[in-house]
Amino acid sequence: MSYRTANNGELRIAHVSNKVTLCGWVQKTRNLGGMTFVDLRDRYGITQLVFNMDSDEELCVKARGLGREYVIKIEGIVVSRSSVNKLIPTGEIEIEVNSLVILNASKTPPFTIEDETDGGDDLRMEYRYLDLRRRPVQDNIILRSDVAFYTRNFLKKNGFLEIETPVLIKSTPEGARDFVVPSRLNLGEFYALPQSPQTFKQLLMVSGYDKYYQIVKCFRDEDFRADRQPEFTQIDCEMAFVKTEDILHIFEHLIKEILFKTKGIKINKVPRMTYQQAIKDYGTDKPDLRFEMKVKDLNIVCKGKGFKVFDSAESILGIVVPGGVGFSRKQIDKLTDWVKRPQIGASGLIYCKFNNDSAYKSSVDKFFTLTDLEQWKQVSSANDGDMLLIIAGEEQLTINAIGNLRLEVANQLNLRDPNKFAPVWITDFPLFELDKTTGNYHAMHHPFTSPNEEDMELLNTDPELVRANAYDMALNGTEIGGGSIRIHDKDLQKKVFNILGFTDEEAQEKFGFLMKAFEYGAPPHGGIAFGLDRICAVISGSDSIRDFIAFPKNNSGRDVMLNAPSKIDNTQLDELGLNLD
Ligand code: AMO
Repeated sequence: MSYRTANNGELRIAHVSNKVTLCGWVQKTRNLGGMTFVDLRDRYGITQLVFNMDSDEELCVKARGLGREYVIKIEGIVVSRSSVNKLIPTGEIEIEVNSLVILNASKTPPFTIEDETDGGDDLRMEYRYLDLRRRPVQDNIILRSDVAFYTRNFLKKNGFLEIETPVLIKSTPEGARDFVVPSRLNLGEFYALPQSPQTFKQLLMVSGYDKYYQIVKCFRDEDFRADRQPEFTQIDCEMAFVKTEDILHIFEHLIKEILFKTKGIKINKVPRMTYQQAIKDYGTDKPDLRFEMKVKDLNIVCKGKGFKVFDSAESILGIVVPGGVGFSRKQIDKLTDWVKRPQIGASGLIYCKFNNDSAYKSSVDKFFTLTDLEQWKQVSSANDGDMLLIIAGEEQLTINAIGNLRLEVANQLNLRDPNKFAPVWITDFPLFELDKTTGNYHAMHHPFTSPNEEDMELLNTDPELVRANAYDMALNGTEIGGGSIRIHDKDLQKKVFNILGFTDEEAQEKFGFLMKAFEYGAPPHGGIAFGLDRICAVISGSDSIRDFIAFPKNNSGRDVMLNAPSKIDNTQLDELGLNLD
């Protein structure tokens, strides 16, 4: 190495007396009497440098002139420290410096580059290259690199080939809006950026590359959420001659390996749950199984007592908060406001506290007798000391609301332990969703997903009841991956397109290339894609995937560092045939 003999994280007491050359950024300088101390930082750690006024005045004065984030190179001798810093791995040694070269000066950074920074979100995004110097952000980026490495290793070991697919393509059907790119050579025409490599990986199966994977950028023009970015990365996989069982088996092992290598966590069998069961018990198709608190159906015991909210409701659902009698009025009011926010949309929250001495107390005591409340207790399997929280209203809204309330209460009770990992396979998704207002069917996963063999007849009569050969993996309440066994028969594919409302011409225009390929020996095949950003976030116990992307977009899809998207000049617009002036 021409610049350095060691990094700033590796020197220990065993290196005392070694002559070393180090490079890095100045984190901090401190002057104590005749001594100057400098914390020198790189991505491996921090090493303390010491300059002594008595032994080399000129050098010490130079060190005192160093500003934060200057890039320097030093030579010196490793010595043991009289006051050990137990907080850092290099804390037993320091470097007595005998030469200092300033490789580059730095302006004072706009925020402190330390674990806890004073920089706000926007400022840190504008100077993302400085934010990336901070330890917690670096840890995230390193974790991401590790997860990608373990994934590649695992898939290579299991015979998968990494194959790149194009980025300038035609629209792919993942259900979001496309980002489009105008074509200069074909004026008035546009490429779409892939929402996923779905159709290409299916074509690769037709080509005989029976185990494909790619760690790949996908683009979706969607509204912002903490677990979404317009540009994100999938671990995208496909296999030929497989059934659901084969896919679940191999990819369960991938996730187990990632959890073991990154967190030392051993998972036995990943449990499976049907979509129906997940909705019924947890109010969501991505349940957090780190805690129980299952949803209880209270329809039977709540109706017919003259309480209008219940009597007019399509659905009445509850959760039992363990030890919840301790919740104060204020806490319950806060939860009520929480479920009434537009994001949740419930009309209110009803509680019933099951106090030990049968002095049950509910917010609807006017309508329900003690005997009624005893029934609630039985049906919800509550114990003395628990509190039942109830939401009633339109079915879908109530299911969503109770599912979200379950998570919020668990957050408040610290039941979502960041060191616990509970993956689950969700299976038997419906193939179609029925849009009640338009009467149209949408593909729940995507239009290439195959129907469950047992439900084939229902395709003709009740498409909304057809189960799909589709599966998701949820981890700690986040959907980290999803996939399906595909249709490989041209006629069945055509039928599904028809149910989805495509005319033959439209299907031909959009997916003719795939249908054509299916006429040349398409093998049975299926696959899955995991969200790399999401896996990293969940492993780290974080809700936001942004922290795990080196250069993410902000909440409005902007890159504030580049100031993108931005206007383009008239010449460029002319060339692309987009100038409307
Ligand atoms: P799906 O649309 O379910 O399936 O996506 C697979 C996984 O990708 C991640 N993901 C996202 N991550 C961050 N930001 C986003 N906007 C975003 N959208 C999706 C999620 C999700 O589980 N082609 C199919 C896969 C297949 O059938 O094989 C597909 O893309 O973790």
